[in-house]
Amino acid sequence: MCSTRIGVLGCGYWGPKLARNLHEMDDVELAWLCDLKQDYLGRACELYPEARPTTDYHDVLKDDIDAVAIATPVTTHYRLAKEALEAGKHILVEKPLAASTQEATDLAEYADRQGLAAMVGHTFQHNAAVNAVRDLVQQGELGDVYYVDATRANLGLFQTDINVMWDLAPHDVSILIHLLGQDPLEVSAQGVACVQRARSVHDVVYMKLFFPNCVMANIRVSWLDPVKTRRVIVVGSKKMLVYDDVLDDKVTLYDKGVEIPPFTVTPEEFHLSYRHGAETPVPYDWREPLRVECESFVHWITTGQRSCSDAWMGARVVRVLESAQTSLLNGGGRETVRS
Ligand SMILES: NC(=O)c1ccc[n+]([C@@H]2O[C@H](COP(=O)([O-])OP(=O)(O)OC[C@H]3O[C@@H](n4cnc5c(N)ncnc54)[C@H](O)[C@@H]3O)[C@@H](O)[C@H]2O)c1
Repeated sequence: MCSTRIGVLGCGYWGPKLARNLHEMDDVELAWLCDLKQDYLGRACELYPEARPTTDYHDVLKDDIDAVAIATPVTTHYRLAKEALEAGKHILVEKPLAASTQEATDLAEYADRQGLAAMVGHTFQHNAAVNAVRDLVQQGELGDVYYVDATRANLGLFQTDINVMWDLAPHDVSILIHLLGQDPLEVSAQGVACVQRARSVHDVVYMKLFFPNCVMANIRVSWLDPVKTRRVIVVGSKKMLVYDDVLDDKVTLYDKGVEIPPFTVTPEEFHLSYRHGAETPVPYDWREPLRVECESFVHWITTGQRSCSDAWMGARVVRVLESAQTSLLNGGGRETVRS
């Protein structure tokens, strides 16, 4: 079988996880590992000695490889990704795709023009539990979605170049767009910079997203929380569900709801009826989402079949974050998400 040859740029926290998955895939050759820091590079190369090491990404781009996976800080994504595309490489760029909508859109357009695969690492779009939730929502099992509440919190990992919203919310925004099949029309965000106050780097942010048909979503992201929480609650007119990524049984469907009486004349006759039905675990076939994501990238390269987390999806998420950032800096007012 002919292998897809891939280099990984960035061997900090996330790069080695990409390297592990690519190394374990039969149809992939992990050809290069690259990091500016010699000690990080050395550690990664000990684990994957088949890959050639370098501290200069130009070595990777000059070589006759098919693709690069980019797991460097967000502010470097655009430059590295664009140079990789210009060198004729397919790209898998970690989330968020870029630091601005203009950069993200440019990558998506350029990749399409060159016929190259350009994917963003929205890992949760490749998560079987999230896809089970999406199927229930899109099949109408929950009825009309009333609202969604998402929490992504833990102690750390603090970043210095971006705030918590740009670090963690790409996951939740991509999950919401993926579940609802729509982009928000407006967004607002409020937050605080507790630990890095002097540098105004927000470590706790509350976002509100306003979707068509009056569907509202709340996202709380925090690096300053005592408990690791990765939870999405979807409340519909018929049923409700909780997706908790920290649990083994990640998705539970609740046959709970409230009905108003069909017809009443007096306030005394008006009694809401509450339904407390069964709580059912939702089945799904679990595989490591990052592996599914890497397979989706290689599948796109080898067959031309586009991944669900393509660069255009990356640009849609960055557009929401950019509007939310404007709101965050302007006191939390509602901002239009430009299409
Ligand atoms: N999908 C996920 O769940 C997930 C989880 C964590 C991080 N990430 C993403 O992965 C990316 C990296 O995050 P991280 O936590 O690994 O950061 P990190 O700081 O631990 O690692 C980044 C590495 O990139 C290296 N680097 C910087 N510029 C470089 C260059 N020009 N050439 C080669 N190497 C360079 C740095 O030396 C560093 O070792 C970010 O975009 C982040 O959002 C994604």
